[in-house]
Amino acid sequence: MARFAAAVPTEPPSRKRPKAGTSASVSISFQNCAHGPEIAAAPLRPRGRLGAVTVLALGALVIPALTSPGQAQTPGKSQDTLMEQARQQFQPIPENPPALPGNTATPAKVALGKMLYFDPRLSASHAISCNSCHNIGLGGVDAEPTSLGHRWQHGGRNAPTVLNAVFDKSQFWDGRAKDLEAQAGGPIVNPVEMGSPEPHVAEQLRGIPGYHEAFAKAFPDETDPITLANVQKAIAVFEATLITPNAPFDRYLKGDPNALSATEKAGLALFMNKGCAACHNGINVGGATYAPFGVVTKPGASLLPPDDKGRFMVTKTPGDEYVFKVPSLRNIALTAPYFHTGAAWDLRVAVSVMGASQLGIHLTPEEVDKIAAFLGSLTGEQPQVTYPMLPPSVASTPQPQP
Ligand code: HEC
Ligand code: HEC
Repeated sequence: MARFAAAVPTEPPSRKRPKAGTSASVSISFQNCAHGPEIAAAPLRPRGRLGAVTVLALGALVIPALTSPGQAQTPGKSQDTLMEQARQQFQPIPENPPALPGNTATPAKVALGKMLYFDPRLSASHAISCNSCHNIGLGGVDAEPTSLGHRWQHGGRNAPTVLNAVFDKSQFWDGRAKDLEAQAGGPIVNPVEMGSPEPHVAEQLRGIPGYHEAFAKAFPDETDPITLANVQKAIAVFEATLITPNAPFDRYLKGDPNALSATEKAGLALFMNKGCAACHNGINVGGATYAPFGVVTKPGASLLPPDDKGRFMVTKTPGDEYVFKVPSLRNIALTAPYFHTGAAWDLRVAVSVMGASQLGIHLTPEEVDKIAAFLGSLTGEQPQVTYPMLPPSVASTPQPQP
């Protein structure tokens, strides 16, 4: 279990978007887009300025000159160039969970967090756990457009996956929680999710004798460790273990040119050259910045209902209307339906909507197929989680309020 020590520096989430025009790279991918400066509002990576088409063409020209005898059997310069271009914009998911600042992972804390993640008694009805809406066997989602919560109420947004969420710079579609620890308190007390009033959470857990020992082991320095704050810490360290390394795309980034098929490579090239990667980049192929949904063309009300103004609800800044966190595309093939509304069930439709709404381009069916094939290569090794045994309720345990 020493592997939890692996430290990955996490930058503090950027709460404010830099002012329009501050980022260097906008020119790269938005030749077709009349709204470049609006896109510039998201901090884009200043690398990869050369259009990749140009790079590929140059690569093809220099092969004869640069290929050494030893490389003669390898796939060719243009492929290496594609890999190089990809490495500048994406990083592989690491094999080990990252360390969380101020929240050291110990085996006892991770084990407690796992129990809490699966324990429906954190909800008022004792029927809903984190896993109900973020099912680890379903790619970390619930496969519903919007989740069913307490008393069959529907929330307003689609449940994003918990897999690799630790690598996102902020949590929720609007980024209103700065990290997993802050996030984990939200759904437990949310009346349309788990519906447990805050004081009830600790009371409920104190009423389950087996949790006394589990919390004492996880928080050995504290005299009264059963608190909502510690529930959040324990769940966060468990969630940090829910990472999916070694996707074909990760193996490609690590240098295996055969990890992607020709179609997936063509999709990767389109993904970078058409401009998708200007927003969806980094370790999570997203998750690092915010952008308006509808940079060029505003989607219809089914995809972008007027009442959900996204990040505006957090910042109250007019420029943040209909701005959302650029979602991670890791494991995207597993997490339909798509968008914050969950209104698109077909990944190909989501890709095509993105072309029109974010880039102002019409992607041909063949291009959409290739991009969707590339997105399929983002499915990594799913976490193998053994279902935890939960401490039993006793006669004095607070009873469900369905
Ligand atoms: C009733 C369904 C439901 C339950 C139960 C639930 N969630 Fe969620 N979760 C959601 C929805 C919906 C969102 C998105 C809400 C938003 O963005 O406003 C979300 C967002 C998240 C996110 C943010 C992911 C991202 O990419 O931004 C994390 C992490 C998360 N939930 C973890 C948990 C944990 C841990 C629990 C248990 C304590 C839990 N959830 C319980 C539905 C649920
Ligand atoms: C200007 C930034 C930007 C660009 C460029 C962009 N996206 Fe997105 N993408 C977003 C945002 C923001 C969302 C969230 C939309 C919402 O509110 O549901 C999103 C959502 C998605 C989703 C749905 C994810 C989910 O979990 O539901 C997919 C798939 C996707 N984008 C793929 C692409 C592809 C493919 C391209 C290129 C054709 C692209 N994006 C270009 C910002 C961008």
